[in-house]
Amino acid sequence: MTASLTGGLSANPLRQGLRLERTPKPAILTIFGASGDLTVRKLIPALYDLARDRRLPPEFTVVGYARRPYSHEEFREMMKEGVAKYSRSKLGNLWESFSKGIYYFQGDLDNLQNFKDLGEFLQTLDSERGTLGNRAFYMATAPSFFAPIIENLGGAGLAGDVRNTRLVIEKPFGHDLESAQNLNKVVQQVFHEKQVYRIDHYLGKETVQNILVFRFANSIWEPLWNNRYVDHVQITVAETVGVENRGPYYDEAGGALRDMIQNHLVQLLALTAMEPPSAFEADTVRDEKVKVLRATQVGQGPNGLAAVRAQYANGWISGEPVHAYRDEPRVNPDVQTASYIAAKFMINNWRWKGVPFLLRTGKRLAKRVTEIALQFREVPHLLFPSSSAGQLSPNMLVLRIQPDEGISLRFEAKRPVADIAMRSVNMDFHYGGTFEVASPEAYERLLLDFLLGDQTLFTRADEVEAAWKIVTPLIERWEIQKAGDLNYYDAGSWGPSAASKLMDNGRRWRRL
Ligand SMILES: NC(=O)c1ccc[n+]([C@@H]2O[C@H](COP(=O)([O-])OP(=O)(O)OC[C@H]3O[C@@H](n4cnc5c(N)ncnc54)[C@H](OP(=O)(O)O)[C@@H]3O)[C@@H](O)[C@H]2O)c1
Repeated sequence: MTASLTGGLSANPLRQGLRLERTPKPAILTIFGASGDLTVRKLIPALYDLARDRRLPPEFTVVGYARRPYSHEEFREMMKEGVAKYSRSKLGNLWESFSKGIYYFQGDLDNLQNFKDLGEFLQTLDSERGTLGNRAFYMATAPSFFAPIIENLGGAGLAGDVRNTRLVIEKPFGHDLESAQNLNKVVQQVFHEKQVYRIDHYLGKETVQNILVFRFANSIWEPLWNNRYVDHVQITVAETVGVENRGPYYDEAGGALRDMIQNHLVQLLALTAMEPPSAFEADTVRDEKVKVLRATQVGQGPNGLAAVRAQYANGWISGEPVHAYRDEPRVNPDVQTASYIAAKFMINNWRWKGVPFLLRTGKRLAKRVTEIALQFREVPHLLFPSSSAGQLSPNMLVLRIQPDEGISLRFEAKRPVADIAMRSVNMDFHYGGTFEVASPEAYERLLLDFLLGDQTLFTRADEVEAAWKIVTPLIERWEIQKAGDLNYYDAGSWGPSAASKLMDNGRRWRRL
C-alpha cells in the first residue's frame, strides 16, 4: 500500500501560520549509524521533544541501524540516557510509550543482504505499528558510507518514491566540488531530488530563519539593503572551544574552510544577500539562494586571493591556559590545518557590486559569538563641527545568531549637554526577553520539516555545488598549490593580525 508521509509533498501552502499545528503521517524513521554520538545527543532527544509537544503521531517508529549487537531493550536504555541528558523537556512519563516505538536492527552498511533483511523488518513493523509503508531514512554515519547506503537502499528496493520515502544526508556533503558532484550523481540514480534532505543544522536555528522574517516581513530594510547604503558586511562565527578530541577528524575534514565556511558561513551569506523570493516555498527560496551563490566569489587582495588562514597557538581562555592546536590530543604536530579562516567575498550583481562580505570563523577565539553585521555608509556630509562630532561611528545593524540572540541597531545620538556633542547608542531587541518560550533545538525543527516533507531549510543539489564552487579557489591555493601562508594566533585572541590586511578603506574587524 502506498500512503503519503504528509498527505502530499506540496505541503507549503499550508506552511504559513499553520505549520506548527500539523503532524506528520505515521512513518518509520531508520537511522543508519544509530549507536553513534549524533543519534544519542541530538536525534533521539529532538524526536522525544517533538513527541512531548504532540508533533509526532502515536504510530511514529524509530529503527536504529548499526553493527554492534544490541537487543531492542539495550538500545532503548542507551537512548533513554541521551534523552535524560540532552532533551529540552527531560525524561518524563512519556518515555514509556515513546520508547515502545524504538527498535534496533543489527547490520553492516556495506552489506546488501542486511538491507534486504531490514526491508522485511520494516514491513513487519508496518503491520505492528500502523506505519502504512511510509519510510524515512537518516544517514548519521561517516560521509564515506553515504554512497554505499544509498546504493544498498536502491539495491534492496527501499528507495520508494516521493509519496512515501525520504532521505536525510548529514554534513559534510562532499569534500570538494568534484566529490559533491559525484555524490549527487549517486543520490540521483536512486532517489528523486524531492526525496532528498541535505542537512545544515545552522538553518534549523530560529535566529537564522529570523533573517528571512526580518528582511522580508518588514518594509523599512529593503530600500537600505544594497550597495547604495551598505558599506560592508561582516559575518563572524567565533568559538572558544578548541578542536577537543576531534583532531584527526578535523584534520581530515580540512579544518575551518570545509567544516565552517563552505556550509554555515556561506549559508548565512546567502540568506543575507539573496533577492526576495516570491513565496516562502522550498524551491522558490532555494532558487534565490543558488542565484546569489553563483554570483559570489573570493575577492582579490594585493597578493592574490583575499583570504587568511591560521592555527591557534598556546594562550588563555577564561583565565585558564590552553594548548596550541598542534599539541591537542591525537593531532599530528606537523599538520597545516587551519582552525581560523578570514576571507573577503564579493557578490557580482546589481544589489551588491562593490560591497565586501567579510567572513571569519575560528576556534579558541576570545568569545563565543555568531553574528551578521551590516555597516552602513558614512553620512555624505557632516554638518556638525568635527570637534563636537568626535569620532563619528557609521550606523551598524547586527543580527546576533548566538548567544544572546537578538538584533541591534547602532546610531548616533545627541548627548544631553548644552553643546552639540554625540555618542553612539544601540537600540536592542533580545529574543529571550520578548518571547518567553524557549526556542526549539535546530534538530527538532529540521526533523519535523523533514517528516512533514518541507525542503525549504535543506540544501538542494545545485546549492551545495554552488557553495563548493565558491571555496574552490581557496582549496586550490592552500591544498593544491600548497601556499605556505599559515599564520598563528594566540588562543583567546581575536585571530591573527594578518586578517586586518583584508580590510581596506579604513574598515576594521569588529571587536566583540
Ligand atoms: N556528533 C555530532 O554532534 C554531529 C553534529 C553534526 C553533524 N554530524 C555528522 O553526523 C554523522 C555521524 O556523526 P557521529 O558523531 O554520530 O558519528 P559516530 O559517533 O562516529 O557514529 C558512527 C556510527 O556508524 C556506525 N558504523 C560505522 N561503520 C559501520 C558499518 N560498517 N556498518 C554499520 N554501522 C557502522 C557506528 O556503529 P557501530 O560501531 O555499532 O557499527 C556508529 O553508530 C557524521 O556525518 C557527522 O559529520 C555529527
